[in-house]
Amino acid sequence: MQSAEISIIIPTYNESKNIRGILEHIQKSIPRNLQAETIVVDDNSPDLTAKIAEDYFHSIREKTTHTINVIKRKAKTGLSSAILNGIQQATGNTIVVMDSDFSHPPNIIPKMIETLKQTKCDIVIASRYVKGGSIQGWPLKRKLMSKIATVIAKKGLGISPKDPMSGFFMFKKNIISGLKFDAIGYKMLLEILVKTKGVKIQEVPYTFTDRQHGNSKLGASTVFDYCKSVWKLYKYGREVRKEEKRTSVRFLSKAARFFTVGASGLGVNYLASMLFSMSADMWYIHATIMGIMFSITSNFILNKYWTFEDRDFDTKRTLAQYGKFAGFSSIGALVQLGMIYYLIDEIGITYPVALMLAVGVAAFSNFVLNKKWTFKEKVWS
Ligand code: GDD
Ligand code: MN
Repeated sequence: MQSAEISIIIPTYNESKNIRGILEHIQKSIPRNLQAETIVVDDNSPDLTAKIAEDYFHSIREKTTHTINVIKRKAKTGLSSAILNGIQQATGNTIVVMDSDFSHPPNIIPKMIETLKQTKCDIVIASRYVKGGSIQGWPLKRKLMSKIATVIAKKGLGISPKDPMSGFFMFKKNIISGLKFDAIGYKMLLEILVKTKGVKIQEVPYTFTDRQHGNSKLGASTVFDYCKSVWKLYKYGREVRKEEKRTSVRFLSKAARFFTVGASGLGVNYLASMLFSMSADMWYIHATIMGIMFSITSNFILNKYWTFEDRDFDTKRTLAQYGKFAGFSSIGALVQLGMIYYLIDEIGITYPVALMLAVGVAAFSNFVLNKKWTFKEKVWS
């Protein structure tokens, strides 16, 4: 089967009065040049929603390239988990999630696609709470609940979109690869927003119209699920922040050790050069070369053992590391020379400042290069 460019996910539970109509509307709304698939995720609705969807697809399949798959789950296991199931089955990289009860108008899908393309963002939210958006037919109580839930998400979880509670959204599937979801309750978008923090988001206004047929499945347990989900996401965010802090502390402490070793190398260099020139009565050039070799060696051993805590002194491995380390040290010296020349002759900076900058840059790039290539660590770890 050809994979789709866009996958539309429709969770359903007892939507026999809506399903056919919404599928027709979606079909009309998707631009013809897009290979589309609709995935209905039904939880064994007693009113036979799944069968209606399948029959509808059989009646049109000859006339269109737009496919409709129906995932039949055994029991009602929740909206978010249905959406997640649909996402896992989707073959397109652009995913649309929407309700089946006409609260979410399919005719804004083209505008969402345009926004995704033109702004090169990763998530487009159909939003009730940006300019031009609104809600029709909800009692005050439901409107209030929605507002409160939104404030909790924004303040408590540090989420910035105006309508993170929307059930109508589009995103690039690749942004969630590798992520694990709890998919509790109703708020799949909220969980995606928390776990993909940093991706680009746009909102497109729409009017939410309360359903004409059937009943909302939102109840007291949905509210309870919401609290549970926010709590889990809050803990998740805290863990991520802690981990980031641990990483920066680790990185900085390794850099500090590396620079300390570098400073000790200056001493070793001086002492060794002096000793050779005095006691062995060596030519001063030879003595200096010996000093440099001694300091590179002591720097290498200290960095291996102390900075990068690599205690494996297998001969082959250690010699290979030593070669790279010495190589990077020479490159560092050349970088330092080149920079000093450039800063003084081309830019006209004074020697003390130029020297400080050049030593700093050479030492830091030496640190990064050795971390990555000699001791095979991730740079940011
Ligand atoms: N498969 C499956 N399993 N589908 C479900 C389940 C379930 O347990 N619960 C609900 N659905 C389906 C419904 O059939 C409908 O298509 C859609 O999910 C939304 O359910 P409603 O019960 O109509 O929700 P709502 O109108 O109160 O709230 C919707 O709109 C809000 C505003 O955008 C939801 O999408 C909310 O998440 C959203 O915040
Ligand atoms: Mn609804």
